[in-house]
Amino acid sequence: MKDVDTLVAEAFAATPREWFLPTDKRGQAGYDGPLAIGHDQTNSQPRTVADMLELLDVRPGMSVLDVGAGSGWTTALLAHLVGPTGTVRGIERVEALVEFGRHNLERAGRPWARIQPATPGVLGDPEHAPYERILVSAEAEALPSELVEQLADGATMVIPVAGEMHRVVRARQDVIVTRHGHYRFVPLLR
Ligand SMILES: C[S@@+](CC[C@H](N)C(=O)[O-])C[C@H]1O[C@@H](n2cnc3c(N)ncnc32)[C@H](O)[C@@H]1O
Repeated sequence: MKDVDTLVAEAFAATPREWFLPTDKRGQAGYDGPLAIGHDQTNSQPRTVADMLELLDVRPGMSVLDVGAGSGWTTALLAHLVGPTGTVRGIERVEALVEFGRHNLERAGRPWARIQPATPGVLGDPEHAPYERILVSAEAEALPSELVEQLADGATMVIPVAGEMHRVVRARQDVIVTRHGHYRFVPLLR
């Protein structure tokens, strides 16, 4: 079995960042920092995305929720990791970015992934829960119990909370939280 670093590196190689950037930003795709995608939002820093995906440890066939789909890049990376036997549901709260992300994702040709608008006042997508993995690319002030409840038994979520990356594993009645360094993100809004 391949290790997670190799799987993530393969997903990056198959999913060029420039496909997920506005035309005027494509020349900066190699920059290891966040890039503006409009609407006060960003396509995240590549090193940060890689760190999060390595923590998430996504495997073929999994069902994944991607909260804060933005440019569609993480949705497409996750789609590569789950492969055609898996599913990825990207959620985005800015309507114009839902369209931008969908358009970009289409180019990647991974129809087992989709991007849908967030329902106002609802975090994630409880209707289609539980998920085996949840990636959250916007920072929460505190760990959102609504998202923990959308994890299947044994499932993992990676989410920035109050400046620190958190990995959350749901194990029956227990929720095991570990912290993995400091990162800056746009806020997770409702
Ligand atoms: C760092 S940006 C985009 C990251 C994205 N994964 C990418 O690769 O481009 C985070 C995104 O989270 C979105 N967002 C913030 N709160 C949200 C919520 N409650 N539900 C869905 N999306 C949300 C923002 O609109 C923004 O597009």
